[in-house]
Amino acid sequence: MHDVKKLNENLFWIGASDRRITLFENIFPLKEGVSYNSYILLDDKTVVFDTVDSSVNERFMENLDHALQDRTLDYLVVNHLEPDHCGTIELLLSKYQGLKIVCNAKARTMTEQFFNNMNDDDFHIVKEGDEFSTGKHTLTFFMAPMVHWPEVMVTYDKTSKTIFTADAFGTFGALSGRVFADEYDFEADFLDSARQYYSNIVGKYGAQTQALLKKVAPLEIKLLCPLHGPIWRENFAYFIDKYQKWSTHTPEEEGVVIAFASAYGNTQNAAEILAGELYENGFKKIKMFDVSASDNSYIVAEIFRYSHVVFAAPTYNGGIFQAMETLLQDLKLLNVQKKTVALIENGSWAPVSVKQMEAIISTMKDMTIIEEKLTIKSSLKEEQFEDISIMAKSLAATRS
Ligand code: FEO
Repeated sequence: MHDVKKLNENLFWIGASDRRITLFENIFPLKEGVSYNSYILLDDKTVVFDTVDSSVNERFMENLDHALQDRTLDYLVVNHLEPDHCGTIELLLSKYQGLKIVCNAKARTMTEQFFNNMNDDDFHIVKEGDEFSTGKHTLTFFMAPMVHWPEVMVTYDKTSKTIFTADAFGTFGALSGRVFADEYDFEADFLDSARQYYSNIVGKYGAQTQALLKKVAPLEIKLLCPLHGPIWRENFAYFIDKYQKWSTHTPEEEGVVIAFASAYGNTQNAAEILAGELYENGFKKIKMFDVSASDNSYIVAEIFRYSHVVFAAPTYNGGIFQAMETLLQDLKLLNVQKKTVALIENGSWAPVSVKQMEAIISTMKDMTIIEEKLTIKSSLKEEQFEDISIMAKSLAATRS
Protein backbone atom coordinates (compact mmCIF):
# COMPACT_ATOMS: atom_id res chain seq x y z
CA MET A 1 0.00 0.00 0.00
CA HIS A 2 1.34 3.43 -0.93
CA ASP A 3 2.55 5.89 1.72
CA VAL A 4 3.20 9.16 -0.10
CA LYS A 5 3.71 12.52 1.61
CA LYS A 6 2.93 15.83 -0.08
CA LEU A 7 5.74 18.38 0.38
CA ASN A 8 4.41 21.28 -1.67
CA GLU A 9 2.04 21.87 -4.56
CA ASN A 10 3.58 19.31 -6.90
CA LEU A 11 6.45 17.70 -5.01
CA PHE A 12 5.95 14.46 -3.08
CA TRP A 13 8.07 12.22 -0.88
CA ILE A 14 7.90 8.66 -2.21
CA GLY A 15 10.62 7.06 -0.09
CA ALA A 16 10.45 4.38 2.58
CA SER A 17 12.03 3.38 5.89
CA ASP A 18 13.88 0.18 6.69
CA ARG A 19 13.49 -0.72 10.37
CA ARG A 20 15.01 -4.17 10.09
CA ILE A 21 18.46 -3.09 9.00
CA THR A 22 21.03 -3.51 11.76
CA LEU A 23 24.23 -2.46 9.96
CA PHE A 24 24.27 0.42 7.46
CA GLU A 25 26.75 -0.37 4.67
CA ASN A 26 27.22 -3.59 6.63
CA ILE A 27 29.44 -1.59 9.01
CA PHE A 28 27.58 0.97 11.09
CA PRO A 29 25.06 -0.15 13.72
CA LEU A 30 21.66 1.48 13.54
CA LYS A 31 19.46 1.79 16.60
CA GLU A 32 16.33 2.94 14.83
CA GLY A 33 16.63 2.01 11.18
CA VAL A 34 17.06 4.41 8.29
CA SER A 35 14.91 6.11 5.69
CA TYR A 36 15.67 6.17 2.00
CA ASN A 37 14.20 9.36 0.63
CA SER A 38 13.02 9.68 -2.94
CA TYR A 39 11.01 12.55 -4.37
CA ILE A 40 8.76 13.08 -7.37
CA LEU A 41 7.99 16.36 -9.09
CA LEU A 42 4.77 16.34 -11.10
CA ASP A 43 5.35 19.10 -13.61
CA ASP A 44 4.63 19.06 -17.37
CA LYS A 45 7.22 16.31 -17.18
CA THR A 46 7.44 13.89 -14.28
CA VAL A 47 10.76 13.73 -12.45
CA VAL A 48 12.01 11.41 -9.69
CA PHE A 49 14.97 12.58 -7.63
CA ASP A 50 17.02 9.51 -6.68
CA THR A 51 15.51 6.12 -5.88
CA VAL A 52 15.91 3.85 -2.86
CA ASP A 53 17.74 0.84 -1.52
CA SER A 54 16.53 -2.48 -2.93
CA SER A 55 15.37 -3.47 0.59
CA VAL A 56 12.41 -1.08 0.21
CA ASN A 57 11.79 -1.49 -3.53
CA GLU A 58 8.27 -2.72 -3.12
CA ARG A 59 7.10 0.27 -1.04
CA PHE A 60 8.88 2.66 -3.38
CA MET A 61 7.26 1.24 -6.51
CA GLU A 62 3.81 1.42 -4.89
CA ASN A 63 4.48 5.05 -3.94
CA LEU A 64 5.70 5.89 -7.40
CA ASP A 65 2.70 4.24 -9.09
CA HIS A 66 0.34 6.08 -6.81
CA ALA A 67 2.02 9.45 -7.31
CA LEU A 68 2.12 9.11 -11.10
CA GLN A 69 -1.63 8.35 -11.38
CA ASP A 70 -1.33 6.71 -14.81
CA ARG A 71 1.25 9.20 -16.10
CA THR A 72 4.59 7.87 -17.27
CA LEU A 73 7.93 8.72 -15.68
CA ASP A 74 9.97 11.03 -17.89
CA TYR A 75 13.14 11.72 -15.91
CA LEU A 76 15.17 10.28 -13.07
CA VAL A 77 17.68 12.70 -11.58
CA VAL A 78 20.55 10.76 -9.98
CA ASN A 79 22.33 12.95 -7.47
CA HIS A 80 24.21 10.02 -5.94
CA LEU A 81 24.88 6.61 -7.41
CA GLU A 82 25.55 4.67 -4.23
CA PRO A 83 23.37 1.53 -4.23
CA ASP A 84 21.28 2.68 -1.26
CA HIS A 85 19.81 5.24 -3.66
CA CYS A 86 19.93 3.33 -6.90
CA GLY A 87 18.25 0.05 -6.06
CA THR A 88 15.53 0.49 -8.68
CA ILE A 89 17.27 2.14 -11.63
CA GLU A 90 17.19 -0.91 -13.86
CA LEU A 91 13.59 -1.61 -12.85
CA LEU A 92 12.55 1.93 -13.76
CA LEU A 93 14.32 1.81 -17.10
CA SER A 94 12.54 -1.40 -18.04
CA LYS A 95 9.16 -0.19 -16.80
CA TYR A 96 9.08 3.34 -18.25
CA GLN A 97 9.94 3.40 -21.94
CA GLY A 98 11.74 6.59 -22.87
CA LEU A 99 12.81 7.35 -19.28
CA LYS A 100 15.94 9.45 -19.25
CA ILE A 101 18.44 9.50 -16.41
CA VAL A 102 19.72 12.99 -15.66
CA CYS A 103 23.17 12.78 -14.08
CA ASN A 104 26.73 13.98 -14.48
CA ALA A 105 29.47 12.27 -16.48
CA LYS A 106 31.03 10.65 -13.44
CA ALA A 107 27.74 9.08 -12.43
CA ARG A 108 27.23 7.92 -16.03
CA THR A 109 30.57 6.09 -15.88
CA MET A 110 29.63 4.50 -12.59
CA THR A 111 26.35 3.20 -13.99
CA GLU A 112 28.46 0.96 -16.24
CA GLN A 113 30.23 -0.39 -13.17
CA PHE A 114 27.07 -1.14 -11.21
CA PHE A 115 24.63 -2.14 -13.94
CA ASN A 116 24.44 -3.97 -17.24
CA ASN A 117 22.96 -2.95 -20.58
CA MET A 118 23.09 0.81 -20.04
CA ASN A 119 22.68 2.87 -23.22
CA ASP A 120 23.82 6.41 -23.90
CA ASP A 121 20.33 7.13 -25.23
CA ASP A 122 18.99 6.61 -21.70
CA PHE A 123 21.03 9.52 -20.30
CA HIS A 124 20.98 13.29 -20.27
CA ILE A 125 24.36 14.39 -18.94
CA VAL A 126 24.60 17.62 -16.95
CA LYS A 127 27.46 19.66 -15.60
CA GLU A 128 27.95 22.47 -13.10
CA GLY A 129 25.39 25.23 -13.53
CA ASP A 130 23.40 23.59 -16.32
CA GLU A 131 19.70 24.35 -16.37
CA PHE A 132 17.01 21.84 -17.19
CA SER A 133 13.34 22.67 -17.70
CA THR A 134 10.61 20.25 -16.73
CA GLY A 135 7.82 22.64 -17.76
CA LYS A 136 7.09 25.24 -15.11
CA HIS A 137 10.12 24.24 -13.05
CA THR A 138 13.76 24.88 -13.85
CA LEU A 139 16.40 22.68 -12.28
CA THR A 140 20.03 23.59 -11.93
CA PHE A 141 22.90 21.40 -10.84
CA PHE A 142 25.84 21.91 -8.49
CA MET A 143 28.62 19.35 -8.38
CA ALA A 144 29.51 18.19 -4.87
CA PRO A 145 32.34 15.70 -5.40
CA MET A 146 33.24 13.61 -2.37
CA VAL A 147 30.33 14.76 -0.27
CA HIS A 148 30.47 11.14 0.08
CA TRP A 149 31.32 9.88 -3.42
CA PRO A 150 32.96 11.57 -6.43
CA GLU A 151 29.82 11.67 -8.60
CA VAL A 152 27.65 13.44 -6.01
CA MET A 153 25.78 16.54 -7.09
CA VAL A 154 22.93 18.54 -5.63
CA THR A 155 19.95 19.72 -7.64
CA TYR A 156 18.23 23.04 -7.06
CA ASP A 157 14.71 23.68 -8.27
CA LYS A 158 14.85 27.41 -8.96
CA THR A 159 11.09 27.63 -9.26
CA SER A 160 10.10 26.19 -5.88
CA LYS A 161 13.45 26.98 -4.15
CA THR A 162 13.86 23.32 -3.27
CA ILE A 163 17.30 21.81 -2.91
CA PHE A 164 17.96 18.08 -3.18
CA THR A 165 21.15 17.65 -1.17
CA ALA A 166 22.04 13.96 -1.66
CA ASP A 167 23.89 12.64 1.42
CA ALA A 168 24.44 16.12 2.85
CA PHE A 169 22.06 16.89 5.71
CA GLY A 170 21.07 13.23 5.96
CA THR A 171 20.53 11.38 9.22
CA PHE A 172 20.20 7.79 10.34
CA GLY A 173 16.85 6.87 11.87
CA ALA A 174 13.61 5.75 10.24
CA LEU A 175 10.79 8.26 9.77
CA SER A 176 7.71 7.83 11.93
CA GLY A 177 4.55 8.99 10.18
CA ARG A 178 5.85 12.45 9.25
CA VAL A 179 8.68 13.70 7.11
CA PHE A 180 9.46 17.27 8.19
CA ALA A 181 12.17 17.96 10.76
CA ASP A 182 9.92 20.50 12.51
CA GLU A 183 7.34 17.77 13.10
CA TYR A 184 9.84 16.06 15.42
CA ASP A 185 11.81 17.09 18.46
CA PHE A 186 14.88 16.96 16.23
CA GLU A 187 17.43 17.32 19.03
CA ALA A 188 15.90 14.48 21.01
CA ASP A 189 14.85 12.28 18.10
CA PHE A 190 17.55 12.74 15.49
CA LEU A 191 20.57 14.84 16.42
CA ASP A 192 22.68 11.95 17.73
CA SER A 193 21.83 9.93 14.62
CA ALA A 194 22.61 12.90 12.39
CA ARG A 195 26.00 13.27 14.05
CA GLN A 196 26.72 9.54 13.79
CA TYR A 197 25.73 9.70 10.13
CA TYR A 198 27.80 12.78 9.28
CA SER A 199 30.92 11.81 11.21
CA ASN A 200 31.11 8.25 9.92
CA ILE A 201 29.78 8.62 6.39
CA VAL A 202 30.81 12.11 5.28
CA GLY A 203 33.22 13.01 8.10
CA LYS A 204 36.39 12.38 6.11
CA TYR A 205 35.30 14.97 3.57
CA GLY A 206 35.02 18.13 5.67
CA ALA A 207 36.76 20.31 3.07
CA GLN A 208 34.42 19.09 0.34
CA THR A 209 31.41 19.67 2.59
CA GLN A 210 32.67 23.19 3.24
CA ALA A 211 32.97 23.77 -0.51
CA LEU A 212 29.36 22.67 -0.98
CA LEU A 213 28.10 24.87 1.87
CA LYS A 214 29.82 27.88 0.31
CA LYS A 215 28.48 27.05 -3.14
CA VAL A 216 24.85 26.86 -2.06
CA ALA A 217 25.01 29.69 0.50
CA PRO A 218 23.69 32.34 -1.95
CA LEU A 219 20.61 30.26 -2.83
CA GLU A 220 17.22 31.05 -1.40
CA ILE A 221 16.00 27.77 0.09
CA LYS A 222 12.45 26.96 1.09
CA LEU A 223 12.75 23.19 1.21
CA LEU A 224 15.85 21.06 1.85
CA CYS A 225 15.49 17.43 0.82
CA PRO A 226 18.25 15.00 1.87
CA LEU A 227 18.44 11.32 0.94
CA HIS A 228 18.07 10.11 4.54
CA GLY A 229 16.04 11.39 7.46
CA PRO A 230 13.75 14.39 7.91
CA ILE A 231 13.18 17.13 5.35
CA TRP A 232 13.76 20.76 6.34
CA ARG A 233 11.33 23.59 5.59
CA GLU A 234 12.32 25.99 8.39
CA ASN A 235 15.10 26.68 10.87
CA PHE A 236 17.75 25.83 8.24
CA ALA A 237 20.36 27.80 10.16
CA TYR A 238 20.23 25.31 13.04
CA PHE A 239 21.26 22.33 10.94
CA ILE A 240 23.62 24.29 8.71
CA ASP A 241 25.42 25.43 11.85
CA LYS A 242 25.90 21.78 12.87
CA TYR A 243 27.32 21.06 9.42
CA GLN A 244 29.62 24.08 9.66
CA LYS A 245 30.97 22.79 12.95
CA TRP A 246 31.27 19.14 11.97
CA SER A 247 32.91 19.90 8.62
CA THR A 248 35.50 22.22 10.22
CA HIS A 249 36.10 19.95 13.24
CA THR A 250 34.89 22.68 15.54
CA PRO A 251 33.54 21.14 18.76
CA GLU A 252 29.82 21.62 19.31
CA GLU A 253 30.49 21.97 22.99
CA GLU A 254 33.18 21.62 25.60
CA GLY A 255 33.49 18.14 26.98
CA VAL A 256 35.68 15.08 27.27
CA VAL A 257 35.36 11.70 25.62
CA ILE A 258 37.24 9.05 27.58
CA ALA A 259 37.83 6.04 25.37
CA PHE A 260 39.44 3.24 27.32
CA ALA A 261 40.45 -0.36 26.73
CA SER A 262 40.83 -2.62 29.71
CA ALA A 263 41.54 -6.33 29.86
CA TYR A 264 40.98 -6.81 33.60
CA GLY A 265 39.54 -3.50 34.77
CA ASN A 266 42.72 -1.76 35.92
CA THR A 267 42.96 0.69 33.03
CA GLN A 268 39.24 1.30 33.39
CA ASN A 269 39.84 2.08 37.06
CA ALA A 270 42.26 4.87 36.10
CA ALA A 271 39.83 6.17 33.47
CA GLU A 272 36.96 6.27 35.98
CA ILE A 273 39.04 8.13 38.57
CA LEU A 274 40.21 10.60 35.92
CA ALA A 275 36.57 11.19 34.92
CA GLY A 276 35.80 12.22 38.50
CA GLU A 277 38.78 14.56 38.62
CA LEU A 278 37.81 16.10 35.28
CA TYR A 279 34.36 16.81 36.65
CA GLU A 280 35.84 18.37 39.79
CA ASN A 281 38.01 20.53 37.56
CA GLY A 282 35.12 21.99 35.60
CA PHE A 283 34.26 19.62 32.76
CA LYS A 284 30.51 19.12 32.97
CA LYS A 285 30.18 16.89 29.91
CA ILE A 286 32.13 13.62 30.16
CA LYS A 287 31.35 10.59 28.00
CA MET A 288 33.08 7.27 28.71
CA PHE A 289 33.37 4.40 26.28
CA ASP A 290 34.87 0.95 26.71
CA VAL A 291 36.25 0.48 23.20
CA SER A 292 35.70 -3.28 23.46
CA ALA A 293 32.02 -2.81 24.24
CA SER A 294 30.97 0.20 22.17
CA ASP A 295 30.95 0.37 18.42
CA ASN A 296 33.53 2.78 17.02
CA SER A 297 30.88 4.69 15.07
CA TYR A 298 29.32 5.93 18.35
CA ILE A 299 32.70 6.90 19.80
CA VAL A 300 33.68 8.69 16.59
CA ALA A 301 30.45 10.69 16.68
CA GLU A 302 31.03 11.83 20.26
CA ILE A 303 34.62 12.76 19.45
CA PHE A 304 33.29 14.99 16.64
CA ARG A 305 30.98 16.56 19.22
CA TYR A 306 33.39 17.35 22.04
CA SER A 307 36.60 19.28 22.51
CA HIS A 308 38.82 16.89 24.50
CA VAL A 309 39.66 13.20 24.30
CA VAL A 310 41.43 10.78 26.65
CA PHE A 311 42.71 7.51 25.23
CA ALA A 312 43.61 4.88 27.82
CA ALA A 313 44.89 1.50 26.68
CA PRO A 314 46.97 -1.47 27.79
CA THR A 315 49.95 -2.66 25.83
CA TYR A 316 49.16 -5.90 24.05
CA ASN A 317 51.53 -8.10 22.02
CA GLY A 318 54.03 -5.25 22.08
CA GLY A 319 51.51 -2.87 20.57
CA ILE A 320 48.29 -1.04 21.38
CA PHE A 321 45.32 -3.09 22.63
CA GLN A 322 43.72 -3.93 19.32
CA ALA A 323 40.30 -2.32 19.75
CA MET A 324 41.97 0.98 20.66
CA GLU A 325 44.32 0.80 17.70
CA THR A 326 41.34 0.25 15.41
CA LEU A 327 39.61 3.30 16.88
CA LEU A 328 42.68 5.47 16.41
CA GLN A 329 43.16 4.34 12.82
CA ASP A 330 39.49 5.04 12.19
CA LEU A 331 39.83 8.58 13.57
CA LYS A 332 42.90 9.14 11.44
CA LEU A 333 41.14 7.96 8.28
CA LEU A 334 38.23 10.25 9.08
CA ASN A 335 40.63 13.22 9.29
CA VAL A 336 39.64 14.03 12.87
CA GLN A 337 41.33 17.27 13.89
CA LYS A 338 41.63 19.97 16.54
CA LYS A 339 41.29 17.92 19.72
CA THR A 340 43.14 18.25 23.00
CA VAL A 341 44.27 14.79 24.02
CA ALA A 342 45.55 12.99 27.12
CA LEU A 343 47.07 9.50 27.08
CA ILE A 344 47.15 6.69 29.63
CA GLU A 345 48.85 3.35 29.20
CA ASN A 346 49.06 0.12 31.13
CA GLY A 347 51.72 -2.55 30.82
CA SER A 348 52.79 -5.22 33.26
CA TRP A 349 56.31 -5.56 31.88
CA ALA A 350 56.96 -3.37 28.84
CA PRO A 351 54.39 -0.57 28.42
CA VAL A 352 54.53 0.99 24.95
CA SER A 353 50.97 1.99 24.15
CA VAL A 354 51.39 5.71 24.97
CA LYS A 355 54.31 5.93 22.58
CA GLN A 356 52.43 4.07 19.87
CA MET A 357 49.17 5.98 20.37
CA GLU A 358 51.12 9.22 20.23
CA ALA A 359 52.73 8.10 16.97
CA ILE A 360 49.32 7.72 15.35
CA ILE A 361 47.79 10.88 16.82
CA SER A 362 50.78 13.02 15.91
CA THR A 363 50.10 12.31 12.21
CA MET A 364 46.65 13.91 12.57
CA LYS A 365 46.10 17.62 12.02
CA ASP A 366 46.03 20.13 14.90
CA MET A 367 45.92 17.57 17.69
CA THR A 368 47.38 18.79 20.98
CA ILE A 369 48.64 16.05 23.27
CA ILE A 370 49.22 17.29 26.79
CA GLU A 371 52.59 16.60 28.33
CA GLU A 372 51.31 14.74 31.37
CA LYS A 373 50.98 11.04 30.53
CA LEU A 374 50.19 8.23 32.91
CA THR A 375 51.79 4.82 32.97
CA ILE A 376 50.16 2.10 35.04
CA LYS A 377 52.15 -0.99 35.84
CA SER A 378 49.36 -3.60 36.13
CA SER A 379 47.20 -1.63 38.56
CA LEU A 380 46.89 1.90 39.81
CA LYS A 381 48.70 2.68 43.06
CA GLU A 382 47.74 5.13 45.76
CA GLU A 383 50.65 7.44 44.97
CA GLN A 384 49.47 7.74 41.35
CA PHE A 385 46.28 9.51 42.32
CA GLU A 386 48.26 12.74 42.30
CA ASP A 387 49.34 12.05 38.70
CA ILE A 388 45.71 11.63 37.68
CA SER A 389 44.77 14.82 39.47
CA ILE A 390 47.56 16.69 37.67
CA MET A 391 46.41 15.26 34.32
CA ALA A 392 42.87 16.50 35.00
CA LYS A 393 44.12 19.96 35.98
CA SER A 394 46.30 20.11 32.92
CA LEU A 395 43.35 19.25 30.63
CA ALA A 396 41.19 21.75 32.48
CA ALA A 397 43.79 24.43 31.87
CA THR A 398 43.07 24.09 28.14
CA ARG A 399 39.37 24.83 28.54
CA SER A 400 38.35 27.84 26.50
FE1 FEO B 1 23.07 7.23 1.41
FE2 FEO B 1 26.37 7.89 0.20
O1 FEO B 1 24.63 7.14 0.36
